[in-house]
Amino acid sequence: MTTAIIGTGGIGSVIARQLASGGETLRLSSADNQAARTLAAEIGRSAVAAVDNRDALQGADAVVLALRFTVLKGVIDEIAGSLTDKLVVVPSNPLTTDAQGSVSRLLPKGQPSGTVVAGWLPPGVRLTMAFGTMSAGLFESASNRLPEPAVLFYATDDDRAGEEVERLIRTAGFEPVKVGGIEQSGRLEVGGDLHDLVVGPAKARSLIGGS
Ligand SMILES: NC(=O)c1ccc[n+]([C@@H]2O[C@H](COP(=O)([O-])OP(=O)(O)OC[C@H]3O[C@@H](n4cnc5c(N)ncnc54)[C@H](OP(=O)(O)O)[C@@H]3O)[C@@H](O)[C@H]2O)c1
Repeated sequence: MTTAIIGTGGIGSVIARQLASGGETLRLSSADNQAARTLAAEIGRSAVAAVDNRDALQGADAVVLALRFTVLKGVIDEIAGSLTDKLVVVPSNPLTTDAQGSVSRLLPKGQPSGTVVAGWLPPGVRLTMAFGTMSAGLFESASNRLPEPAVLFYATDDDRAGEEVERLIRTAGFEPVKVGGIEQSGRLEVGGDLHDLVVGPAKARSLIGGS
């Protein structure tokens, strides 16, 4: 199947490599088209660089918006008309970094990013918050773990989106575990109790029930 990845930076490039190694066909786009072209060339035949963000969605079953939270709404507005028939996967954390390198949260304490992103999407779009639950290095090293696969948590309100993201998570070399609805996405973010964990399915399920 085909997945569009918009944003080919720190996390988008790792997601792209892992999905491609699991057999997914990719359409890549970034602010600077050269970055998407370079990554597509590195991945090889299964990836192409799109002309722009809208073009990336052509023929795609799913789209991963691997973007900083501050640009996410603008890109959603740009591509909104093409999202209704696709799975939308958002790995973004609601963080910003100032000129001194200090990181701060962009949303009020307790407000999960997924509920904000859901409000930016057109009605009926199948959203999952996923693929941002580990730092890029950990995501790469924990994929295709043996003998027991590592878990990638996700949150969604939509059963069909859940099935679709589970296929993508397995393609990337992880075992999917649903944390709950979109309102639970705060648990997956930086600072959440399930962020940056490398655990197997049994431990993952006990953690979900445990808080
Ligand atoms: N990096 C991680 O370890 C990690 C792990 C988990 C979650 N996350 C989350 O994932 C999100 C992305 O993080 P990142 O580290 O990958 O950021 P990043 O390295 O800055 O990459 C952001 C990407 O977005 C692209 N971009 C910016 N504006 C765009 C636009 N208008 N249209 C299309 N593409 C655009 C950039 O393109 P250009 O390169 O061409 O400028 C770049 O490829 C953040 O919310 C972060 O919290 C990151």
